[in-house]
Amino acid sequence: MSGAIGVFDSGIGGLTVASAIKKHLPNQQIIYFGDTLHLPYGDKSSGKIKEYIKAISAFLFDNKCEHLVVACNSASSVLLSLKNLPPFSSITNVIEPVVGQVIANPDIKNVGIIGTKRTINSHMYKHQIEAVRADITVHELATPLLAPMIEEGFVHDSIAEQVIHEYLSELPEIDAMILGCTHYPLIKKEIDSFYNGQVKLFDAPDVVANTLKKLVHVNEAQPISDHFYVSDYTASFEKTARLFFGEAIRLEKSDLFPY
Ligand code: DGL
Repeated sequence: MSGAIGVFDSGIGGLTVASAIKKHLPNQQIIYFGDTLHLPYGDKSSGKIKEYIKAISAFLFDNKCEHLVVACNSASSVLLSLKNLPPFSSITNVIEPVVGQVIANPDIKNVGIIGTKRTINSHMYKHQIEAVRADITVHELATPLLAPMIEEGFVHDSIAEQVIHEYLSELPEIDAMILGCTHYPLIKKEIDSFYNGQVKLFDAPDVVANTLKKLVHVNEAQPISDHFYVSDYTASFEKTARLFFGEAIRLEKSDLFPY
């Protein structure tokens, strides 16, 4: 039987990616780690985030994960410069698979990228796209209010609509948009309405799950049960987890970062 897939995020937003992995690879065991103690990563320094990535990837490796998925965009944006991670069979971040889709589309000339301050300030999407497709211009915009707004449940209402309108009005005309944050698939419909369906939207969950499918040895039998660890537990995290995973899950408090 193939080893577990470790999925790591700054909190519970990465459950959008875990849920897609479950859909595409239902027999693989998932061990999720949400670093709710240090949330949000979007405002942290890259040095601090690297420290957390090292500790959490070691935890997942010690818990028999064979593959690692860094579901968090902010963490993925600093991951590539990080050395000496545990020897997983594969390490997948959420940036490269999405960039792969964008650069494969010859019609795209102007692409917007929205995400946390950490993701946008890393310029990782911009550098990766422009390195391969000099004919594409990447327009970057930090949208830090969106993640907490979504966590508070403002998704399909006038508040979400107004915040999306305020932010996206800052971008010039684009033909594609990357939703560069774990939380944004939940407001994909609203972003699509803002653009009247005229802008092609890219997000991570399905493309990351499909990338992973090519890397794992698919199990025939049902897996042993999944685990969803968090570094800080509150009932409200558990309630919000349902929003991102699509069904109720039980969060387990890990003692990785004792306090
Ligand atoms: N998971 C983060 C990301 O995708 C969003 C939340 C945070 O700032 O920690 O960038």
